[in-house]
Amino acid sequence: MINIGLIGCGRISKNHFEAIAEQPDAQCIACCDIIEDRARESAEKYNIPTWTINYEEMLKDPDIDLISICTPSGLHPVHGIQAAKAGKHVLTEKPMACRLNEADELIKACEEAGVKLFVVLQNRLNPAIQLVRRAFEEGRFGKMYMITSNVFWTRPQDYYDMAPWRGTWALDGGAFMNQASHYVDMVQWFGGPIAEVKSIIATLARNIEAEDTGSAIIRFQNGAIGSINVTMLTYPKNLEGSITIFGEKGTVRIGGTSMNKIEQWEYADKQPYDAELDKYSTNPTSVYGFGHSGYYRNIINNIQGKAEPISNGREGRKSLYLLEQIYSD
Ligand SMILES: NC(=O)c1ccc[n+]([C@@H]2O[C@H](COP(=O)([O-])OP(=O)(O)OC[C@H]3O[C@@H](n4cnc5c(N)ncnc54)[C@H](O)[C@@H]3O)[C@@H](O)[C@H]2O)c1
Repeated sequence: MINIGLIGCGRISKNHFEAIAEQPDAQCIACCDIIEDRARESAEKYNIPTWTINYEEMLKDPDIDLISICTPSGLHPVHGIQAAKAGKHVLTEKPMACRLNEADELIKACEEAGVKLFVVLQNRLNPAIQLVRRAFEEGRFGKMYMITSNVFWTRPQDYYDMAPWRGTWALDGGAFMNQASHYVDMVQWFGGPIAEVKSIIATLARNIEAEDTGSAIIRFQNGAIGSINVTMLTYPKNLEGSITIFGEKGTVRIGGTSMNKIEQWEYADKQPYDAELDKYSTNPTSVYGFGHSGYYRNIINNIQGKAEPISNGREGRKSLYLLEQIYSD
């Protein structure tokens, strides 16, 4: 049994509590939030035996094996480093940090403490994405030419006003780093190491420090070109969260509102699974998707020595590197 303590009982914590409850060999035994009501209400709702407003106190519990971090993004490194020093494995929500040097400090702390570090990138587990990843690893694209991702979502001012950390450079970042971070990850996951990045970002309509809209162009070391277009200003509702991949021998587009629907699937060769594409399209009710449960399954299997991690600290760092390039151009 893997015992989990969770810090940050806000919006995304629900996905974590529910995903943990689905695992037969893991349980959440403690939760923490600086807002007392949130910690207490989460404990009551999800039958968690202990809650606290004091993270250090939670870290003293010798029964906790893993800390799940669901606090504002800029706090992930500090909370992760504290957990590592207490000898706990660390699972952090994305992005793992708002700055690369802080991500590196977290990676180093986990390596020095001999604990595992995981970064939640649950969209990698979308069935449609898993299928195109399989085709990619089988070499069906041939030479890679272009990878394009569009994140055309709607986030009204109310959304940013829900918490003071949203849209700030210190604790969140903008559309690229928060809402589109899974798409940034996906583009680099298929594109590989990066040679060059150009970008334009703008805060066109929302009252926030960071960007609500932007475009980035990437040259990968393999010669392929990538682009990512994001806006949180789509009228009147979420329109698209897609990735399109063009290779020498294949064109694939995974669309829907959060990379969950196969919209184009063309390869020069044929494979039996090409006839079953409908099976791989899903229709999640929220843009967070269904992936947290599968993600927990993977990390528990990894802790138990039964699987490779989908995204450890070094893997999570790759999209943060690209984000930093986008913001520094
Ligand atoms: N994987 C995904 O698809 C996904 C989706 C949404 C959010 N997220 C990530 O999850 C994180 C949290 O986002 P959210 O929307 O749940 O935010 P939120 O503001 O709803 O929740 C954050 C919680 O952390 C608590 N908190 C802040 N500082 C704390 C501290 N020092 N100690 C204890 N608790 C503290 C807050 O009181 C709040 O309840 C962000 O990093 C975000 O990027 C990931």
